[in-house]
Amino acid sequence: MDEKDRLKILHTLYKYRWLGIEFIDEVKMALPNDLESLRKVVLKCQKCDLAQTRHNVVFGEGNPNAKLMFVGEAPGENEDLTGRPFVGRAGQLLTKMIENVLEIKRSEVFIANIVKCRPPNNRVPTPQEVKECIPYLHKQIELVDPKIIVALGATSYRHLTLDKTPISKVRGKVMKFGDRYLIPTFHPSYLLRTPSKKKEAYQDLLTIKELLCEV
Ligand code: URA
Repeated sequence: MDEKDRLKILHTLYKYRWLGIEFIDEVKMALPNDLESLRKVVLKCQKCDLAQTRHNVVFGEGNPNAKLMFVGEAPGENEDLTGRPFVGRAGQLLTKMIENVLEIKRSEVFIANIVKCRPPNNRVPTPQEVKECIPYLHKQIELVDPKIIVALGATSYRHLTLDKTPISKVRGKVMKFGDRYLIPTFHPSYLLRTPSKKKEAYQDLLTIKELLCEV
């Protein structure tokens, strides 16, 4: 079996997980069962070439028991330099979305990314990079155990669900993700480039806020 076939099978299995059917993921199973030990493993990761160009691994941060988890695409320059997720311009917007619209502190939620190291020039992570890194995210989801996951942007939505529907068609929809909810919305970087979409993102945040009161 070549690498392409292996990736295809893994994708199918992740799709089953989205539908609520668990499978034994050997990579995820081999990872530590507490967040701090997982962080130590991830900080040393050398599984793909991004390890050669990164300054810091961006593990993610926030409440280890958060009900709400945001998942972005990959660290950018500021995140790579500081080792913290969403601290650049997009991060400032995300913080405002959380604190001003959801009316909760940023430290109450957990923020992570599909890949933990910055792709050079902020390019989209390759399928191979995602394949190596995404078990860390699935383990974070298992350990934090959020009730609601917000997929920020198309890359995050696609790799979490393996659904290729454009983000503009699915944003704001409340979906089942195993025994959790998943809500896709626009990525804050896209909102900075396309401010006219902020109205729709605001509606999505109201949906998230309402659901957060129910779970
Ligand atoms: N964009 C992302 O997707 N993640 C970050 O952490 C920062 C910017």
